Amino acid sequence: MAREATINTLLEEERIFHPPEDFVKQANVNSQELYAEAKANPRLYWGMQAERLDWFQKWDKVLEWNPPFAKWFVNGKLNVSYNCIDRHLCTWRRNKAAIIFEGEPGDSRVLTYWDLYREVTQFANVLKGLGVRTGDRVAIYLPMIPELAITMLACARIGAPHSIVFGGFSAEALRDRINDAGAKVLITADGGWRRGKVVPLKKNADAAMTQTPTIEKAIVVRRTNQEIDMKQDRDVWYHELMAKAPLGCPAEELDSEHMLFILYTSGTTGKPKGVVHTTGGYLVGISTTHAMVFDVKDSDVYWCTADIGWITGHSYVVYGPLANGATTLIYEGAPDWPEPDRFWEIIEKFGVTIFYTAPTAIRAFMKWGRKWPSGRNLSTLRLLGTVGEPINPEAWVWYYQNIGGSRCPIVDTWWQTETGMIMISPLPGITPLKPGSATVPLPGIDADVVDAAGNPVPLGQGGFLVLKEPWPAMLRTIYGDDRRYIDTYWTRFPGKWTYFAGDGAKRDYHNYYWMLGRVDDVINVAGHRLSTMEIESSLVDHPSVAESAVIGKNHELKGQAVAAFVTLKARAFSELKSAKKSFKEIEGELKAHVAKKIGAIARPDDVFLTAELPKTRSGKIMRRLLRDIAEGRILGDTTTLADPAVIADLKQKYESRES
Ligand code: WTA
Repeated sequence: MAREATINTLLEEERIFHPPEDFVKQANVNSQELYAEAKANPRLYWGMQAERLDWFQKWDKVLEWNPPFAKWFVNGKLNVSYNCIDRHLCTWRRNKAAIIFEGEPGDSRVLTYWDLYREVTQFANVLKGLGVRTGDRVAIYLPMIPELAITMLACARIGAPHSIVFGGFSAEALRDRINDAGAKVLITADGGWRRGKVVPLKKNADAAMTQTPTIEKAIVVRRTNQEIDMKQDRDVWYHELMAKAPLGCPAEELDSEHMLFILYTSGTTGKPKGVVHTTGGYLVGISTTHAMVFDVKDSDVYWCTADIGWITGHSYVVYGPLANGATTLIYEGAPDWPEPDRFWEIIEKFGVTIFYTAPTAIRAFMKWGRKWPSGRNLSTLRLLGTVGEPINPEAWVWYYQNIGGSRCPIVDTWWQTETGMIMISPLPGITPLKPGSATVPLPGIDADVVDAAGNPVPLGQGGFLVLKEPWPAMLRTIYGDDRRYIDTYWTRFPGKWTYFAGDGAKRDYHNYYWMLGRVDDVINVAGHRLSTMEIESSLVDHPSVAESAVIGKNHELKGQAVAAFVTLKARAFSELKSAKKSFKEIEGELKAHVAKKIGAIARPDDVFLTAELPKTRSGKIMRRLLRDIAEGRILGDTTTLADPAVIADLKQKYESRES
């Protein structure tokens, strides 16, 4: 059985899927010439794409590149919220659905572009009334409800950079992000719905705000209606402020390089990186790719299932679709609530035509079985997408057949928080698809696969994925830390200003890219980047733990799962020995501790207690060997180990526990 599956997978990788003829006929991009045009003169190409936006003042120059610092559309003036809302109001789109919202309990709301204009301008006035000025940072910690899009657009309208913190993050993660950005206002909610339960956002926010000296006001959206504490002078209800806020608020004429937002992402050290995105280049990059990759038309109902708290939600739930005047769907809750067909029910209910999700979700759908999608009418779908991690060919083909009815192209889109926009992806009307490959870089994008010295590797071989030329939606820096920006992304290959993505990749003989996962100490759990260092430091923060090493272990559904190897402090160890505490208790405590420090997504699946960790003579933990153990492989090179007996012992104990 297992062998058959492997062979099938190999065969499938060779399969090529051509876009159906009727799709080709109507596609937004239907000629390969675009690639050549963009390659011949990338700046001219991006200048042309920038014409899709409304500018208060046109740029003088497309790009000013002082590696690794870029300025795009120099001296151009524009406003993101104006481009996402106001410019549609003088067209028939005024009454078009901008946002379709489905709450987890089944409530739904449709906001037209006019509705969005009203809500956003009113809230922009609320922010101004609380003293928020252009340049002030605003932290947002909300569930997936329309107010999340409304508040971010209001920030963009007045030029206050937002920092959105995913609602699944803990109080401490929220606190650290607020403090790094020095946010003045926090926008949160009483709670959000997840699998029928309330996520206590306000409670977490209260805990965070005991240690955030820069926060002056907290604005609270009422969503779940449960009891919360409102702190006098600091906390104010969203609906009360909105009831008094006047309609209409001018969109600030902002410089193209004005900071639009900060979004924190995991790096190889414990401290999250505040990735900075600016206005003009970002909006050009995401509106262009949104139109081309998703082939969006005015008649589409477009649904990207990502949480807005991640970059995918920023770029392809909110800003990209709205800049293009599309209808974007927002769903608050879990895919299996109340039943595993919730997504398919939503597609049927709203006639969704374009559906963009993550491989980890697709693998879960596969596990739940085809009976769930087959019980719903999915015939409105015409295009599917994936993002976040490599998709295994088996899942690709399942998605293609069972969700797309074998008629919808799939766009496998490779990109990052740092790239801001999709970089490597098929264009659905012209790119033949191979299951598991993100295919080729988009027009205007110059990527490569190189060896450790920065030289291109021959086709068919693996190497590091790099980007050789700047692109409009690229990050501009790490907030407050130019040094870290340079060191993390630009100095891997000395002498060349090449962006290092941290991913391994190979190119096949058709020049198609195959992503091979992260090559640094970042692991990808269910499409979310987590830093092994950050989880390790949260474990060591627990009073029982002396040392820990965290690795990503292959996982059937999540892609990777967190596995922690932990050595205990002497006291904790003797408690265990004397049976004062059981292994289960300690394991439970450690898992809960990580969830508290970072969030439930970082909770280890597996905690393994060990007397010692394998180290090099210079004291570096050899995580590579721990990965071999956790995945049941033969150990790799052990010659640099300080004490080879440690690893042999560890392997034996680990395996006897597994069985
Ligand atoms: C991984 C999400 C393979 C990759 C937009 C990247 C992918 C990291 C793909 C960025 C894909 C994203 N195929 N791997 N189509 N898309 N990745 O910052 O490792 O949350 O570096 O941005 O996800 O994750 P991030």
